[in-house]
Amino acid sequence: MVTDFATTKSLFQLPQGLVYLDGNSLGPLPKAAVTRVSSMMRDEWGELLITGWNRAGWISQPSRIGDRIGKLIGAPVGTVVVGDTLSIKVYQALASALEINADRKIILSDSGNFPTDLYMTEGLIKSLDRGYELKLCAPEAVADCLSDDVAVLLLTEVDYKTGRLHDMKTLTAKAHEKGILTIWDLAHSAGALPVDLGAAEADFAVGCTYKYLNSGPGGPAFIYLAPRLADQARPVLSGWLGHEQPFAFDLEYRPAPGIERMRVGTPPIIQLAALEASLDIWDLVDMNDVRVKSIELSDLFIGLVENGCPDLKLASPRDSRQRGSQVSFHFEHGYAAMKALIDRGLIGDFRAPDIMRFGFTPLYIDAEDVKTAASIIEEVMVNRLWDNAEYFVQSAVT
Ligand SMILES: Cc1ncc(COP(=O)(O)O)c(C=O)c1O
Repeated sequence: MVTDFATTKSLFQLPQGLVYLDGNSLGPLPKAAVTRVSSMMRDEWGELLITGWNRAGWISQPSRIGDRIGKLIGAPVGTVVVGDTLSIKVYQALASALEINADRKIILSDSGNFPTDLYMTEGLIKSLDRGYELKLCAPEAVADCLSDDVAVLLLTEVDYKTGRLHDMKTLTAKAHEKGILTIWDLAHSAGALPVDLGAAEADFAVGCTYKYLNSGPGGPAFIYLAPRLADQARPVLSGWLGHEQPFAFDLEYRPAPGIERMRVGTPPIIQLAALEASLDIWDLVDMNDVRVKSIELSDLFIGLVENGCPDLKLASPRDSRQRGSQVSFHFEHGYAAMKALIDRGLIGDFRAPDIMRFGFTPLYIDAEDVKTAASIIEEVMVNRLWDNAEYFVQSAVT
């Protein structure tokens, strides 16, 4: 299958006169999601009421949709389930992994990891109160920091700020040589580039669906568990829908077999309907085509921006093989500059202290968009249009 990106673009609602380079933060609306969600509400919730759990199959949505996401990340059927937020899924994966590697006390991560992964880890360490320690090393030094006392390696594959890409397969193999379990956060990988969890022999993986997978704000997360660990991993958040027989209403918890045990409580069916509409578009897409196009667009963007805006310093790896699907630049007044861009019809985002971040999502971004974006950036930078008091006032979300 050769992906027809003009078709995929036509399936998203993209406001006129706007270039959206922030699908790495929140994907745009798949047009079909509007009818899918409204028919779910009207025909299923409205007409079927509680019988929808059986008659519309709501109860099995988390694993059915998990399998569809699994196809995008090299996970076999029955190894991915959807629900909760990514922060919760990080917690679940880490708590289970620590129990499996029970005689070790170090959790290793890197200084480029997303704060919630580190915060959830610190919270878990405090609750367990068993002498666990979170050790951080520089992203480039992860392989050298793997040692026999590390229980779990917890990494985000693509750095949320710089787009730097870890080598999942090599690091997982090196971790395994030392008896370390791996948890990969795929927030900036799923739908951004080819991921093969099976080939990498990853142990756990987690990710969100509201970025490249376009499920909408607050869309649920997913978790993957390697089949070899599935019946060994104790679900620490032992909610009733992860029970072997939720509707037996037993007083004692018995985990469901396999990945189902990573379910917790009632799934968000309305949001899952939106996600399904997006996954219908993903069915038309070959992830290798996405990678080729994403690199093409990102390289074009870097060339144009560096050429027109000497004040912006590339914060992402120049070598596309070491980059995810975003490009970041350092600029001292990056926050104000991003606001100026947004005012002129280019949406990216800002990450403190000085990163201007732009995501490349070939499903709906093409070379024309990139050229328009680069010319807006040049206009703002060359004319110092960011130097306006209004643009320095911080909003709650950057
Ligand atoms: C790498 C990474 N991990 C975790 C999160 C947080 O996920 P959530 O807010 O869904 O819990 C994000 C959010 O952007 C992220 O980028």
